[in-house]
Amino acid sequence: MDKRSVLSFVATMAAMALSGAAVAQDLPKLEQQDSYKIGFAQTESNNPWRIAETKSMQDIAASCGWELVYTDAAGSAAKQVADVDSMIAQGVDAIFLPPREEKPLIPAVMRAKQAGIPVFLIDRSVDPAVAQAGRDYVTFIGSDFVDQGRRAAEWLTENFDGEKGVIIELEGTTGSSPANDRKKGFDEAIGANDKFEIVASQTGDFARDKGRQVMETLLQSHPDVNVVYAHNDEMAIGAIQALEAAGRKPGEDVTVVSIDGTRDALQAIIDGKMGVTVESSPFFGPVSCDTLKKYAAGETIEPWVKVEDRIFTAENAADHIGEAY
Ligand code: AHR
Repeated sequence: MDKRSVLSFVATMAAMALSGAAVAQDLPKLEQQDSYKIGFAQTESNNPWRIAETKSMQDIAASCGWELVYTDAAGSAAKQVADVDSMIAQGVDAIFLPPREEKPLIPAVMRAKQAGIPVFLIDRSVDPAVAQAGRDYVTFIGSDFVDQGRRAAEWLTENFDGEKGVIIELEGTTGSSPANDRKKGFDEAIGANDKFEIVASQTGDFARDKGRQVMETLLQSHPDVNVVYAHNDEMAIGAIQALEAAGRKPGEDVTVVSIDGTRDALQAIIDGKMGVTVESSPFFGPVSCDTLKKYAAGETIEPWVKVEDRIFTAENAADHIGEAY
């Protein structure tokens, strides 16, 4: 190699390293095969969103040639870690993982990589300061949660017609990426508007009954609330139940904004009790199959395979309730 070629080679390697392309070569490879043994480590099954996600993965398993090793962590990050470890021990070909929380699942992701098993994060992500797509796992397939929160805030600022918006925020599972990012997107957007104030923000763990209980308690200390922002529909429905039990009229004296797009939320919009739900699609089966095939074929996989979401309001909820879950 002459001097010019050497310089050109060094420059190319440096550019590849910077772009992540060279780093991606450290990821475990996946052979092209007709069938795979695939691990799917679900976080819990306590709401329609999770059930729809699991069904989507099970449905695609049949058509994508996957023998699915399915586990349900029942709401425990520790159990989800053990579930991933068990999949590693069983020698699955790849793992699809929605990490319940951003930090605790990272060691399991690293162990899978060390064992030569590619990991695809779906729906939720891990702390990017510690683990990164293209280096520690293949990619994150999922929604832009920050944008979902921002869009909920934008709908609110455009549609709330009271003088002052007094907001109670019901947060998702503490330490999870959707809870962190939906809070960030909403709080930043709403913080720029003097008309609104978030008077309380507390976790309802993405669960209907927890959302109802938290709302019941917060209503005592903030009886002047006239806006509820819930990080998911289940907590929004729980909040509507608490408001009604307290003699309030959601949709009339309290504006409810939420995220997901479940059947119950669309019905609440049609009934005039909820203002908006920003979609967060749980249908990860097809995109997971497609991404795995591309990866096995040696195609470049972007660090974030973004899922595009719609928005459901009184204008279109009736058109979409038939397809809702
Ligand atoms: O990770 C996505 C969130 O998790 C959904 O919004 C919620 O309903 C689920 O539990």
